[in-house]
Amino acid sequence: MAVDVHKLPAKCRHRFPIFEHRVYINSCSQGALSDKVRDAYNSYLRDWDEKGAPWDYWVERTEAARAAFARLVNADPAEIAVTTSLSAGVASLASGLRFAGVRNKVVLTDWEFPTIGQIWHAQEARGARVVHVREDETGQIASKSFRGVIDEETKLISVTHVCYRNGAKLDVESVVRLAHEHEVPVLLDAYQSIGSIPVDVKALGVDFLACGTLKYLLGSAGLGFLYCRRELWDKAWPTATGWFADRNVFEMDIHDYSPAPDARRFQSGTPPVPSIYAGIAGIELMEEIGIVDTQKHVRKLNELLIDGVDDLGGTVVTPRDPNRRGALVCIKSTDAERLVAALAGEGIVTSSRDGNLRVSAHAYNTPEDIKAVLWELARRRDLLA
Ligand SMILES: Cc1ncc(COP(=O)(O)O)c(C=O)c1O
Repeated sequence: MAVDVHKLPAKCRHRFPIFEHRVYINSCSQGALSDKVRDAYNSYLRDWDEKGAPWDYWVERTEAARAAFARLVNADPAEIAVTTSLSAGVASLASGLRFAGVRNKVVLTDWEFPTIGQIWHAQEARGARVVHVREDETGQIASKSFRGVIDEETKLISVTHVCYRNGAKLDVESVVRLAHEHEVPVLLDAYQSIGSIPVDVKALGVDFLACGTLKYLLGSAGLGFLYCRRELWDKAWPTATGWFADRNVFEMDIHDYSPAPDARRFQSGTPPVPSIYAGIAGIELMEEIGIVDTQKHVRKLNELLIDGVDDLGGTVVTPRDPNRRGALVCIKSTDAERLVAALAGEGIVTSSRDGNLRVSAHAYNTPEDIKAVLWELARRRDLLA
């Protein structure tokens, strides 16, 4: 059925005041601020002001965030750790794995966000071996490229769902199938996909999933989640920890470390309460808008964008096949920073990475936003490669 590209923005764009003065098309960096998330922050300040230290309520809000995220990815709340960033969850998991035996290899790809490479390479000091699956000559990473590297020495596969610098989407199901043939668990970095496409841990078959709320989930910095499949809870004994990871947070026992039996063991200290208010609001707003509709809408906008860049003689580095990309479209530039600045000068907010302009539409963007980007790219054709 044809997608009406005006339907979703008509439903939600008015809730994001930035569109009164900017064309905001940079959700791969940060989602736009909505009235709902602003109200959530105001509620946090009001609660703090009126009630002083309503810790029971704030702990309940942490549980509400856990439940909201669990709902989003089709997990059980007990399978979710509430963290302060994607990095915090992954680092806790890494600290809990032992690399002493034969199974000490961690497999990553060339598409990982720096934090993933850094966390796993840090484990080399603890006996881990890190192997990178490279891009092939076409710039892709096919699941068959994992075939030779996943074996009985592999401890974990740690892969990104959508690459932050070229927008390519990994065939996660195939990688999981291969990994599970060798009884190797898979950790998915879903930061560039969550909120923009449906992410279902059961359908994907992943064992761990990490992300945060500040991009397509419309929240702010300071809140992340780590999903751990219930069968794997006791396979990790995190040594990077804190009292909110304990079996009984309020036991206050300084003579013992007994991590929670469930995914809470990957938590740390005091929960990020303000970001939790915002994160719940962002997740609820995306549920109201609809993630399936958002995926269809953004695909349509991205077709317009890609066709327009083709017409200008530019180079789109993101795969053409809509099933092999996320919401992010990357366009090759001779000077990506200057191109971002040129667009910013015209009130259009984008970003750059790795020599590419990043344009990332969301539910609130319109075909007119795409036209505005293309108009500006036409004026700065000299900066297209
Ligand atoms: C794919 C991906 N992973 C991880 C991160 C960083 O997450 P955090 O700063 O919450 O650790 C980002 C942020 O841009 C990202 O795009």
